Amino acid sequence: MMPTTSKIRCSSSLTSGGSDTNTHSNRCVARGGGFSSFKEQQQKQKKSISTFRSKSFSSDDEGKLLIMNSTPNPIEEEEDMIEYCVLKSDEDLIHLSLTKRDVFRALVGIVGMVGMSTVVQGSAPPFARASNGESSLNKAADSEKDFKQLRKDVKALMEKDANLGPTLVRLAWHSSGTYDKMTQTGGSSGGTIRFKEELAHGGNAGLDKMVAALEPIKERNPKISYADMYAYAGKVAIEEMGGPTMEFKYGRVDEMDPSKVTPNGRLPDADKGDHAGPKTTQGLRDVFYRMGFDDQEIVALSGAHALGRCHADASGYVGPWSSTPLLFNNSYYGLLKGLKWTENTKTKKFQYEDPSGQLMMLPSDIVLLEDENFKKYVDVYAKDQKKFFADFKNAFEKLELLGTSGLNTLKE
Ligand code: HEM
Repeated sequence: MMPTTSKIRCSSSLTSGGSDTNTHSNRCVARGGGFSSFKEQQQKQKKSISTFRSKSFSSDDEGKLLIMNSTPNPIEEEEDMIEYCVLKSDEDLIHLSLTKRDVFRALVGIVGMVGMSTVVQGSAPPFARASNGESSLNKAADSEKDFKQLRKDVKALMEKDANLGPTLVRLAWHSSGTYDKMTQTGGSSGGTIRFKEELAHGGNAGLDKMVAALEPIKERNPKISYADMYAYAGKVAIEEMGGPTMEFKYGRVDEMDPSKVTPNGRLPDADKGDHAGPKTTQGLRDVFYRMGFDDQEIVALSGAHALGRCHADASGYVGPWSSTPLLFNNSYYGLLKGLKWTENTKTKKFQYEDPSGQLMMLPSDIVLLEDENFKKYVDVYAKDQKKFFADFKNAFEKLELLGTSGLNTLKE
């Protein structure tokens, strides 16, 4: 008898809906003065940049479930053995011999679990199924389509409110930055930053609004987990604001238990009480070394403060680091070393201001000037944007993978 290959497709009842991207694209935002679209604001900031420059500056996991050599109705002929293969990864094929009854039971269990997970989290793990390689191609194609749609939706959100771009970067970083390499806890894998328990952590002040703003996007993209969505939205925001193009890996599975949230205090403090002194310096190293980063990576990642601003109603600090907060570039380093930073006596929290009073630095930013092992990288990145982009790309890709395993590379 010719061997038959049964394809088992478990699909979510929730399908990706259409995007209303176009309806957003012409909307403008008023924030920080005047009505202008994201692109218009970026253009303005690009013009002002030349000024800076001249100044120096399966279902288990991802199982492909195959049934080979089976007869058409495995349930009726219970005692026939069939070969059952679970392909955990392309390199790792596990062969099992089971009775058809065993397989039937396993399938019922898996389908039930997928149904449950779809209902509970609105997101089903991707299943692939065929023996000839077609399955992985289909899956890749699906993922490409799904993430393309997600990118569109994230861009539309940034078009609606330009200031959300930097906040998306902060959300992605905070959802990964809880990682502890010793205990292998935390990190971006479970999307736990959506839980109120984690949003209540001091370092996450203000991110509840960002999480809420992403909820409609999650609903439109139900096949993508929260964890993947937060990580991908951060990457897209950086790229859309002119930063380096980064590799993305997907397949994070959402944690469903809020008690798995890591303890408060894993994110860095901008001030350990001695402003830009040794305690704040040590605090930075403690937190980033715990995640597995070194001094060069700390300085490279801090360059993201070229983007966005501090909000009095979030962290309590106030103002932007650069005058082009919607453009990802190396301006942070040029400003850090090129301007004179003094205490801002008008703000509630201790922070630094430049002579114009328009720009700010946190104590943890000034630390990068004070510590010579940090400062040498500030000097490099202030001079060399290409080097900054290359190092930032590596560090940010690493950041987004903290706490994850077995992910797939997205082809974009
Ligand atoms: C080095 C330790 C760090 C400290 C102490 C720190 C602290 C802060 C604080 C206090 C804010 C203001 C939040 C608000 O009031 O809304 C902020 C914003 C921001 N941070 Fe950091 N941060 C650090 C590292 C990073 C890293 C590694 C990244 C990304 C790779 C990052 C990206 C951002 C962005 C983009 C914003 C602006 C958010 C917005 O405009 O809404 N930060 N950070």
